[in-house]
Amino acid sequence: MAFFEVQDIRKKFDNDEVLKGVGFTLEKGEVLAIIGSSGGGKTTLLRCINFLETPDTGRILIGGDEIFNADAPGNEEKQKENRLRIGLVFQQFNLFPQYTALENIELAPRLLKKYPEAEIQSRTLAVLERVGLAEKANLYPYQLSGGQQQRVAIARALVMEPDILCFDEPTSALDPELTGEVLKVIRSLKSAESTMIIVTHEMEFAQGIADKVIFLDHGSIALEGTAKEVFSSRNDRIRAFLGNYSRDAE
Ligand SMILES: Nc1ncnc2c1ncn2[C@@H]1O[C@H](COP(=O)(O)OP(=O)(O)OP(=O)(O)O)[C@@H](O)[C@H]1O
Ligand SMILES: [Mg+2]
Repeated sequence: MAFFEVQDIRKKFDNDEVLKGVGFTLEKGEVLAIIGSSGGGKTTLLRCINFLETPDTGRILIGGDEIFNADAPGNEEKQKENRLRIGLVFQQFNLFPQYTALENIELAPRLLKKYPEAEIQSRTLAVLERVGLAEKANLYPYQLSGGQQQRVAIARALVMEPDILCFDEPTSALDPELTGEVLKVIRSLKSAESTMIIVTHEMEFAQGIADKVIFLDHGSIALEGTAKEVFSSRNDRIRAFLGNYSRDAE
């Protein structure tokens, strides 16, 4: 039994089927990179996994526990609990501008009573330390660079200790010189304990960090395998995608 199992996710918006039966499995500690052309359904898939959208079909399981089944919707309380097992870091950081870095991170654990009050500050400082920002704890988002804001957003996800941590193009809103520091932090999170799903256009990064790669094309998995298998594949669609990609990069 795989640690994380996603089965047959379909999602339609009006009559447009954006996800056409997507499924995959991940073992604990594995990193999955999802690549593919714009509009292919990558964000929609992450939003379905994070319950920001309700899939039309399919099941999602963590450690054998069914956390979603389109045929048997659970009660709201259960859904809320399940949602916390999966974290999401957005492209646009989404920090609260009126709160400091520290307060942004403390908010969810305090609201949801994740830890006793006495532990919240030490846990918050520990995750800020992990993303290299302990000394910026009391600054507001406007006082931080884009890369630093994204690292706070990562710390905010980490403090909730999700079973799966998802990233949706975590560096695409950043200037190239700020991308490196964020990718470095994400790389440093890779461990036997943390299972991650990363949607990215940074092909070199994907190749370096991913245990598995999925090429999502028009709502279906066109290719899946190890990073080596996918990036060296002779499949026409992936060659065309990677070809466009290297031209864009020039
Ligand atoms: N809430 C929505 N309502 C209607 N259509 C939507 C909605 N969300 C996404 N779509 C459509 O679903 C398709 C897939 O979008 P999605 O954002 O998942 O693609 P993507 O692979 O993340 O693209 P990108 O690389 O540009 O971020 C697009 O055609 C988009 O217009
Ligand atoms: Mg997207």
